[in-house]
Amino acid sequence: VIVTEEPEHFRRLMDDARSSGRAVGFHPTMGALHGGHRANIRQMAAECGTVAISIFVNPLQFGPGEDFSSYPRQLDADLATAEQAGAEVVFVPAPDAMFPSPPLVTVRAGALADHWEGRRRPGHFDGVATVVTKLLALAGPCHAYFGEKDYQQLVIVRRLVTDLSLPVVVVACPTVRETDGLAMSSRNRYLSEAERAASPVLYWSLLAGKRAIEEKRVTDAARVEEEMLAVAGAEPLLQLEYAAAVDPATLAQLSTVDGTARLMVAGRVGGARLIDNVSAEPQEA
Ligand code: PAF
Repeated sequence: VIVTEEPEHFRRLMDDARSSGRAVGFHPTMGALHGGHRANIRQMAAECGTVAISIFVNPLQFGPGEDFSSYPRQLDADLATAEQAGAEVVFVPAPDAMFPSPPLVTVRAGALADHWEGRRRPGHFDGVATVVTKLLALAGPCHAYFGEKDYQQLVIVRRLVTDLSLPVVVVACPTVRETDGLAMSSRNRYLSEAERAASPVLYWSLLAGKRAIEEKRVTDAARVEEEMLAVAGAEPLLQLEYAAAVDPATLAQLSTVDGTARLMVAGRVGGARLIDNVSAEPQEA
């Protein structure tokens, strides 16, 4: 695996791959790689000629009081995981190679950031949009892989790529779950044993909403959300922030479920803020 800290070196490696006829797959990450990242890298290795990832804990997407300084950093383990999964290039920029402090020119995520995570984490998606624009500018024409676990981020990145005409095809990677249903996340390591045992309740509440739509044929979104809340509310260790049925493209909260919906949940379990989502498809009558 080639590891580089230099933005221009990374750009050259991606240019060289393309000039020798190989399609580039690129997965931006913040490191602390887990089974979800591993699956995404393997997916890229199956679909692309050259497989690159970046590891950068982006200060712009953390708010005051969030976990920027405590976010897990474990470069050696990450490099081993990335190589084993099939990554050939790992871009690990130093913070001052990415942004002047304070940053001057930034990207605004716009109205898609007004909902859900964006409302609770002001500035978060502007920080994501800014770093993703910069990383994609360095990677150049590529297939860029983003996890569905961060569904709002995925929707915003797709829109960013369209609106700014970036030469990139966005590929969504399915959420990878632990055997008890908890979505894999770097933040799961903040959970104590009891909190870890309680955390799959987020996924159960999504499944309750999905069952309401797909099996009980509920079309009133408020009723779907009640079913999700009933499950989430039964877990005392979870402080639920939202459980909603939303339009998968605009992220607006639905009043009627008459097409594919995205069910989204977020909440705190101990010191960890966890998010999850699933798709729900109403069945034909
Ligand atoms: O999903 C993440 O890990 C981050 O938000 C990303 C896309 C790498 C930007 O920092």
